[in-house]
Amino acid sequence: MKKWIVLCVSAILLLSACSNNEEATKQANTNEATENNNETTTNELTEETIVKGEEGDAVPMIQQALIDIGYDVEETGVLDSYTVWALTDMQLQLEDIATTGIYDKAMKQVIEEQLDQTTVEPAAKLDRPDSNDHLSLAIDNPYEVLALVNKSNALPEGFEPEDLTVPDVRFPFEEDDPKKQLRKVAADALEELFEASEAEGLNLFAQSGYRSYDRQVAVFAANVEKHGEEHANTYSARPGESEHQTGLVMDVTTDEVGFDLIVEFGETDEGKWLKDNAHEYGFIIRYPEGKEDITKYQYEPWHLRYVGEQAATEIYEKEMTLEEYLEAKQ
Ligand code: DAL
Ligand code: ZN
Repeated sequence: MKKWIVLCVSAILLLSACSNNEEATKQANTNEATENNNETTTNELTEETIVKGEEGDAVPMIQQALIDIGYDVEETGVLDSYTVWALTDMQLQLEDIATTGIYDKAMKQVIEEQLDQTTVEPAAKLDRPDSNDHLSLAIDNPYEVLALVNKSNALPEGFEPEDLTVPDVRFPFEEDDPKKQLRKVAADALEELFEASEAEGLNLFAQSGYRSYDRQVAVFAANVEKHGEEHANTYSARPGESEHQTGLVMDVTTDEVGFDLIVEFGETDEGKWLKDNAHEYGFIIRYPEGKEDITKYQYEPWHLRYVGEQAATEIYEKEMTLEEYLEAKQ
């Protein structure tokens, strides 16, 4: 009997030791899995800047992280429309982060924080695009800084940017006017551009920035009245087709040309400096000389469009238009 008791107790102890071991092994596996999981979702996120249309090994990681946060994106390996939408939608919901649709070091941090504790709600600010093309006729995401607005790609009539602000730069007039405004990301960049131009002894003035859809209705109608519709549309956009509605554009000028928006501005020191330096601040001369057949507008050396430093630099170096740049990324 004693023997039996000893045997039973030993068996029980052995069994319990085994099951403890199993538990311990299970726990260790879970820890490993968690570590691996963190590795795939955070540690490998790149710090590089990636803009719409770019591809690379780092992109599927970003897409997987966005899926983990709850965004309905596809793991395509290209920073496509869905990915840009998810980035923009997150940026619109968070303070202290520029709304651009661009992935960069700051967004890496945001994504890591959101993986840890999700506070954003997918599509709360911006509807998911209908398709994943990055050149579609309808502009699904007017907030991304590479949004293509032209005669074939109109903005939604009701689009009014949320983050308009008046940049701290010189204007040739004193009064308050909505056209002094730009979206925050472009306003910050314009302030830097003006500071740099002043350091060079130049006299830039900001003349005309944001225009609402309704304002463009009036502007275009006045131009049609003066020059007829066909001619007017070579220098003035139809409502919905003006980049000024994005809040990413400022027309600039100088005293030497009487603060006018005229082709001669391109020959002034200010115009020449802009042509070679605007990209460093994320701006492009949107309607360059000799590219009228692509842009469908006359040369406008004064019309600065914010696209972000990375795209602006490539567009400048390759002497492209925004249309050509985006087409090349297709
Ligand atoms: N002048 C440009 C084309 C506009 O009206 O938006
Ligand atoms: Zn303009």
